[in-house]
Amino acid sequence: MHALWPLAAVGAAAICGIVSAAGIEDGEERSGVDFMTPETQALQADDMSNPGMLWVLQGEQLWQQAEGRADVACAGCHDDASQTMRGVAARYSAFDAATERPIDLAGRINSCRAERQQAEPLAPESDALLALTAYVAHQSRGMPITPATDARLAPFRDNGRRLFQSRIGQLELSCASCHDDDWGKRLGGSVIPQAHPTGYPLFRLEWQTVGSLQRRLRNCMIGVRAEPLDLELHLTERARGLLVETPAVRP
Ligand code: HEC
Ligand code: HEC
Repeated sequence: MHALWPLAAVGAAAICGIVSAAGIEDGEERSGVDFMTPETQALQADDMSNPGMLWVLQGEQLWQQAEGRADVACAGCHDDASQTMRGVAARYSAFDAATERPIDLAGRINSCRAERQQAEPLAPESDALLALTAYVAHQSRGMPITPATDARLAPFRDNGRRLFQSRIGQLELSCASCHDDDWGKRLGGSVIPQAHPTGYPLFRLEWQTVGSLQRRLRNCMIGVRAEPLDLELHLTERARGLLVETPAVRP
């Protein structure tokens, strides 16, 4: 449903008329999976029916495949992903010293592809990049999200928090208006989740394919001059302690 702002106009009375709740209390953090129908929950829970597993399996093949002028596979350097990549997704994004900016997991994978394999970087949202990212993130499934504490990330994360709380548009809604104050309430046909990025890349029924968190955010950010990676850092901080689900399924 994430043509949010137009839809918000329909739900505006429902949202703006309500005295805001206190936000998410300690211990109240809940993954988006808890707000889904039992049918969609079942789709995610069973690896045989979870369509996102096809990307994980494709990622497993790509992991083994020699690429680029270096003619080396990810596995050539990183060996068994279940050992070397376990926990990595749970602490991303990281600080990239080369660009002095945050880098997300897909960006990190692409930098290995360009610099270590000496291959053309994979296009954002390409099946190959989503597959590799899903495969690497899947190695952290069930682990608690523990965002990096690197102090160099702090200014970016603070900017993300500010963006999350900024009210914009005619309705003066912020991300927080819905996801901190009105989570659990109905908006049109959907229940408003807390917006925790626990399952990315994930399979969205609305897309009928797998997509990244960046893709998920794109529709939300109409009118927000947002640095999406900063927002991602803030979302991950809010989700601290929730378990990685990749590949999740969402409506
Ligand atoms: C030639 C060796 C080499 C190849 C091939 C390679 N990497 Fe890497 N990769 C490294 C090294 C070395 C590091 C850590 C040092 C650094 O930051 O560059 C790293 C870091 C990473 C990280 C970050 C780990 C962390 O703890 O933050 C990820 C994720 C990653 N690689 C994924 C991949 C994937 C996926 C591929 C295949 C597309 C790949 N790498 C190919 C050498 C390689
Ligand atoms: C008007 C209310 C509203 C606003 C404002 C809003 N969202 Fe959402 N958001 C939703 C609803 C409803 C869903 C679930 C949609 C569905 O299930 O189809 C959602 C879903 C999400 C998800 C997916 C969570 C998951 O489980 O994968 C993320 C992430 C998210 N929003 C982030 C944001 C960010 C960041 C902003 C601000 C830039 C924002 N949202 C603004 C209502 C809102």
